[in-house]
Amino acid sequence: MGFPEVRMRRLRRNETLRRMVRRYHLSVDDLVMPLFVRPGEGVRRPIESMPGNFQLSTDELVKECREIERLGIPAVILFGIPEKKDSMGSQAVLETGIVQTAIRAVKEATDDLVVISDVCLCEYTDHGHCGILNDAGEVDNDQTLEVLAAEALSHARAGADIVAPSDMMDGRVGFIRGALDEAGFKDVVIMAYSAKFASAFYGPFRDAAESTPQSGDRRGYQMDFNAEEALREVELDIAEGADIVMVKPALAYLDIVRQARERFDVPLAVYNVSGEFAMVKAAAEKGWLDEGAVVMEMLYAAKRAGADIILTYWAMDVARRLG
Ligand code: PBG
Repeated sequence: MGFPEVRMRRLRRNETLRRMVRRYHLSVDDLVMPLFVRPGEGVRRPIESMPGNFQLSTDELVKECREIERLGIPAVILFGIPEKKDSMGSQAVLETGIVQTAIRAVKEATDDLVVISDVCLCEYTDHGHCGILNDAGEVDNDQTLEVLAAEALSHARAGADIVAPSDMMDGRVGFIRGALDEAGFKDVVIMAYSAKFASAFYGPFRDAAESTPQSGDRRGYQMDFNAEEALREVELDIAEGADIVMVKPALAYLDIVRQARERFDVPLAVYNVSGEFAMVKAAAEKGWLDEGAVVMEMLYAAKRAGADIILTYWAMDVARRLG
């Protein structure tokens, strides 16, 4: 049967009909809000390339998290901007470090907001790379694992519910799982940035986290744009014990999200990154597109591709809109 018996437009005639046959749903339950924490008190320093986002001192962060919980968003992911940076990223592992302090404060001030901590060294190293450099100036994988495990452990001790390694070192998920289990943190979840591509879409984040590499780039550890390699990364992370896997960025890599969804039966997260946010904001500021509508279209695309969890700087806006 075809036209004229078949008329696809019948089910598009009004919003109620469209709502009845809609296959994809976005819920506040899907959202994670990324937040940046810095030293000080009463600080809300705007991030220029990410309008509406701030580097927050812990007291301000706590207020924000209370509001996030009130909106029904299940989780936040925290990034720290430390007091001092050095070649080893030493501040990343301090019990009294910026993120560790923030985790404690947020856990205390909220009821059951899930706190995710980003585990990486790029915010803490003076060279801005995600690991420890060897004499040749390359990121040393195995030496970095030790520091990442110590960092993850310090976050767990502070009360993090989920640790999220974003460094892309080989073997880090298994290494961190081992360290957590040995220290008695069997229930701390690992959300692995499994397929993290070397992407120009991270530009605004690097302003926000003050983590731009001082020399070279991240292509020696973040991924080139191969799909098969991405699936292999996901598979390895699951084998090493990742509870949740992630594909990042979102928009330009939705084919990877779909393939990972079809191949693996674990919760799948996608990171709608800073560059995706900034370009929509910039166009909206010029009046060139309707921000709210575009955001929903982008997030529905991530859902349709197969994402269960979406990390997005629009989480609070979207929660209010779905409200
Ligand atoms: C840390 C990290 C980055 C992002 C999340 N964790 C930056 C990078 O790898 O350069 C990017 C997030 C975003 O762009 O929104 N390694």
